[in-house]
Amino acid sequence: MSLMAIKPLDVIMAQARGGEHSLKRTLGPMSLIALGIGAIIGAGLFSLTGIAAADNAGPAIALSFLVAAIGCAFAGLCYSEFSTMIPIAGSAYTYAYATMGELIAWIIGWDLVLEYAVGAATVSISWSAYVVSLLHDFGISLPVELIASPWQPVTLPDGTMVHGIINLPAVFIICIISALLMRGIQESATVNSIVVVIKVTVVLVFIGVGVWYVKGSNYVPFIPPNTGTFGEYGLSGIVRAAGVIFFAYIGFDAVSTAAQEAKNPQKDMPIGIIGSLAICTVLYIAFALVMTGLAHYTEFKDQAAPVAVAIAHTPFVWLKPLIKFAIVAGYSSVILVMLLGQSRVFFSMANDGLLPQVFSAIHPRYRTPWRSNMLFMVFVSLFSAFAPIAMVGHMTSIGTLFAFVIVCAGILVMRKTQPNLDRPFRTPWVPVVPILGILVNFMLMFGLGWENWLRLFVWLAIGLVFYFAYGRSHSHLRGSKQ
Ligand code: ALA
Repeated sequence: MSLMAIKPLDVIMAQARGGEHSLKRTLGPMSLIALGIGAIIGAGLFSLTGIAAADNAGPAIALSFLVAAIGCAFAGLCYSEFSTMIPIAGSAYTYAYATMGELIAWIIGWDLVLEYAVGAATVSISWSAYVVSLLHDFGISLPVELIASPWQPVTLPDGTMVHGIINLPAVFIICIISALLMRGIQESATVNSIVVVIKVTVVLVFIGVGVWYVKGSNYVPFIPPNTGTFGEYGLSGIVRAAGVIFFAYIGFDAVSTAAQEAKNPQKDMPIGIIGSLAICTVLYIAFALVMTGLAHYTEFKDQAAPVAVAIAHTPFVWLKPLIKFAIVAGYSSVILVMLLGQSRVFFSMANDGLLPQVFSAIHPRYRTPWRSNMLFMVFVSLFSAFAPIAMVGHMTSIGTLFAFVIVCAGILVMRKTQPNLDRPFRTPWVPVVPILGILVNFMLMFGLGWENWLRLFVWLAIGLVFYFAYGRSHSHLRGSKQ
């Protein structure tokens, strides 16, 4: 029975008012939107759009962005209701604790490591590839052994394929950003906001400049006919591409992990979550339309830097290095918000006793969970240094989708079990929106294939061993009941 123990809301809220041992409330609505955009726009947009257009959807990749956005919007609305009702750093983990009990909460908290920590590793690997290419443009070449993992062949700027030993640039960016996060939430938010301005400007410049050089013939046919194989163009291609570019939307939910650092979470959480998702959806669709209008979708086949391919169709080829620079900066903020989210989720789990106290230790001066930041710096660096990008990318997607499914289900449970609770933001059309959220996100999970399900199960199984070896006996909730 006690595995299903639910943490009462009044206890959750009382613990969150923890005086000097608490996080610092400094974030307003703009910082929260910036945090969302900081996490959202990254490797997904700049690397996957071209690949998914070439392999799956053609110019209709813009429709795939719409489909994925609708799936995310269902989840975003559910996150918004929870984050105003339970404005705690643990996000989906805490929501599950309040609705479905300790075991499910543990599973989801552990699962979020895939979204945040493994997600940060994924983007750091992509960051490294762009930095290497940017340095190459300036005539600097790093030794190949030090720029890639042993498991991933890399194509050097001169076209040769090599295997590396360790991806040091990826480790470097993880360490720098972890140090910033240890320094303070306000400092981190400021750096994030600057980066967001740079990257949104670049997306806008690309759209604003590119739109004038779009060739109508590149849009014909807008939905290339299906080749007879599921997912290769046609309607199934649009759906498959939506699964691929789903990665581009990951991150809006990370806003909810900053709830305990928001000045007015009841009002500002939905603004941060829905606002950042809406802004990015509009930018993504316009970006995809311009990209596939500039170059024929077949030109993006196997291109790691599709933006450069599109730019080559305008007279502004000199924009290329600037855009590369902005992409490098832009990826840093994705890593920043992912690592921020990760440390906040483990902060909450440690506060509940399910993880060792080291994850909830707050720095006396900076008021950040610095030890947790440091431990994740080491853990994520290992993935960054040695893992192949496709594997970590898919693990991030399946982990995130699983969290979305649980959050949507949690709204249904909470409306039944605690109908009278104060809900500053209410998900509209319950139960339709959460049910559609569960269905769409499950569908996207199935699209990721059995290998990724296996990885998810193995990861969760490791988590259960930890839970039964440590969390179960140290749980504060359980202790308080004995
Ligand atoms: N949405 C983030 C990206 O595309 C994870 O990089």
